[in-house]
Amino acid sequence: MTALLAVDGLQVRYGGVVAVREVSFAVRPGEVVAVLGANGAGKTSTLRAVTGLVRPTGGTIAVDGSDVTGWPPERIARLGVAHVPAGRGIFGSLSVADNLRLGLYGAGADRSRAGAQRVDEVLATFPILAEKRRQPAGQLSGGQQQQLAIGRALVQAPRLLLLDEMSMGLSPTVVADLFAIVAGLRAQGIAVVMVEQFVGQALKVADSVLVLEQGRVVAAGAPDELSGDDVAAAYLGGGEASTPVVVPPPPADAREGVRVDLGGRDIRELERLAAARGTTVSALLEGSVAGLLEGAR
Ligand SMILES: Nc1ncnc2c1ncn2[C@@H]1O[C@H](COP(=O)(O)OP(=O)(O)OP(=O)(O)O)[C@@H](O)[C@H]1O
Ligand SMILES: [Mg+2]
Repeated sequence: MTALLAVDGLQVRYGGVVAVREVSFAVRPGEVVAVLGANGAGKTSTLRAVTGLVRPTGGTIAVDGSDVTGWPPERIARLGVAHVPAGRGIFGSLSVADNLRLGLYGAGADRSRAGAQRVDEVLATFPILAEKRRQPAGQLSGGQQQQLAIGRALVQAPRLLLLDEMSMGLSPTVVADLFAIVAGLRAQGIAVVMVEQFVGQALKVADSVLVLEQGRVVAAGAPDELSGDDVAAAYLGGGEASTPVVVPPPPADAREGVRVDLGGRDIRELERLAAARGTTVSALLEGSVAGLLEGAR
């Protein structure tokens, strides 16, 4: 079977920093792959390369056997690859429903009836979002915002969902609910690549695991094939040579500064904002939290 996603010899460099070195892995349709590793191991950079948010400096990325290396994010999204960035990237001043509608832009400007239907389907899947659909998303709890971030990716009807640290900052009970959502996605045949610090839970839901250390794959296989040492590497990182990386946490409402006033389905404001910044709406949505973090470095 052709892999849904095949990453081969991926390298990502930021100037002199090599964040990802020779990383290879494959994701089959409907499979859950957990990516583990200490701070700075290259997990986020790997996901961002897959969705086109950073350009690989080496290696190839293929979707359904076709080379998509270097493609822009919106083109990759159209193949059914959706990204839920670390920090969630919710627009706190917009309603829950409008945040979901914005997800339609990830896969191209789809204001069709089918798009509206996708939003309704996602609302039906997440009762708490349906209940709060008209409230500003900033009023949701952290766990509810994470559901919204996942829901916004799901309106694209993805075949592959990339989830970066969905559990970050949430209580174990809330995290358990999110893992149940991931198990539900898997049952629907949606493939998931999840970066997780909740290693025990990730090993339970994953079909295969990738452990990164200083940008390299140091262990890979089915969860029951991994040794305790492999998994410990995910917590401990690369020993003495590794420098602890302090990544500033995203502000509680990272997008509050983005003033967008959307009336109903009108997202022309956002299009103008994207144009003013010389980017696309989808890149603005997917990249904004990551961009804020980079700006803070
Ligand atoms: N935009 C950037 N510019 C320069 N260096 C970067 C940038 N993004 C990441 N890095 C560096 O690349 C390496 C890998 O970072 P990355 O964010 O991919 O790791 P991670 O495994 O996701 O870490 P964390 O667990 O902290 O989220 C780190 O050394 C980091 O400092
Ligand atoms: Mg990260």
